[in-house]
Amino acid sequence: MTVALIPGSFDPFHNGHLEVIERAVNVFDEIVVAALRNPQKQDQCFTLEERREMIAESLAHLDNVRIVSVSTLLVNVAAEVHATAIVKGLRAVSDFESELQMAQMNRSLSPVETVFIPTSSAHSFIASRLLREVARYGGDVSSFVPPPVEKRLREKFPQLAT
Ligand code: PNS
Repeated sequence: MTVALIPGSFDPFHNGHLEVIERAVNVFDEIVVAALRNPQKQDQCFTLEERREMIAESLAHLDNVRIVSVSTLLVNVAAEVHATAIVKGLRAVSDFESELQMAQMNRSLSPVETVFIPTSSAHSFIASRLLREVARYGGDVSSFVPPPVEKRLREKFPQLAT
């Protein structure tokens, strides 16, 4: 049985993340999505538990997917869920440098492999950091996030455009 761990800060979860997960379910028997802290990112919008809830609502149509939110090392989660691979999406060459570094660090800490899935060009410009910025200033983010995430963003930023 192949288990893939799909980690991210998911703050918030968006359509690019959704695409990678929907494609990964065709490759692995079970998917574990893990919302984790990225210590490099201080500008947090949602708590880890809020992120877990939004991801669960957004992935309700998929079988064999479970969601966890934890504040620990990624390789510890991989060992706990018996993941055979860590799956990350790649939007552009600019993602590759930091993703390669993380994959090499994770590989030096544990035997888990990292597998990259290139996102479609339709999603290559979507980034959680930009969505937080657009939402804070009241811009329309509805075409970039699943409906459950849009709902939570509206609750957090009542100024959001329709
Ligand atoms: O969506 P992101 O911010 O690119 O995801 C990065 C994330 C959360 C996967 C990474 O920061 C992470 O693995 N955090 C958990 C702590 C950890 O294991 N750090 C060492 C990474 S080499």
